[in-house]
Amino acid sequence: MITIALPKGRLGEEAEDILIKSGILKKKIPQDSRKLIFEIGTDMKILLVRAQDVPTYVEMGTADIGIAGKDVLIEHSSDVFELADMKIGYCKMTVAAKKGVNREELFAKDFLKVGTKYPSIAKKFFSNISTQSEIIKLYGSVELGAVTGMSECIVDIVSTGGTLKENGLDVVEELFESTARLICNRSSYYRELDKIEEIKAAVIKTVTGA
Ligand code: PRP
Repeated sequence: MITIALPKGRLGEEAEDILIKSGILKKKIPQDSRKLIFEIGTDMKILLVRAQDVPTYVEMGTADIGIAGKDVLIEHSSDVFELADMKIGYCKMTVAAKKGVNREELFAKDFLKVGTKYPSIAKKFFSNISTQSEIIKLYGSVELGAVTGMSECIVDIVSTGGTLKENGLDVVEELFESTARLICNRSSYYRELDKIEEIKAAVIKTVTGA
């Protein structure tokens, strides 16, 4: 039995398409239902989880495999194997602030308030450039932190750039690029070696078109 942690929402739907093309799933999981566990035949189970929780389910071994953004894996310092880059969910981790804010002046401040869904990444970044920061943990619409002036900048992912633009913000610094990864629990990998290698190979074949 292989248990897969699938993120809810758009990323999950794109990941499902890859799993279907790879022959791992036969059809889509009805994401709009309130059901969270789906048995697929006799040897597969799908858990529908919040994207940020996928690494936790995989690290704990509740799921053998999962699909998680590199941004979330870095934030949680997740102790899992990365099997493949699924080349979906592309985004950039950035520091952003109100348009016109000067990067050097911003980073030269003695103390910065930073709004973010990624407190660990934000804290590390500002500590690396020796800027004292107060991290304000937010759960969504992070841009509002900088727009309202609650924080001088934000650390957040940018995909199309539309949300920053619509709210008069600009990227000040790019930290890293992120895509969704196929991840695996360390013990599961050795216990289900053949099955997991088969899934990994099928996914890589689909995403690279090789
Ligand atoms: C993410 C991110 C930005 C937005 C960026 O939020 O936190 O707010 O997407 O996308 P864009 O560059 O294409 O505009 P998400 O959509 O996950 O919603 P949230 O505000 O609830 O976190």
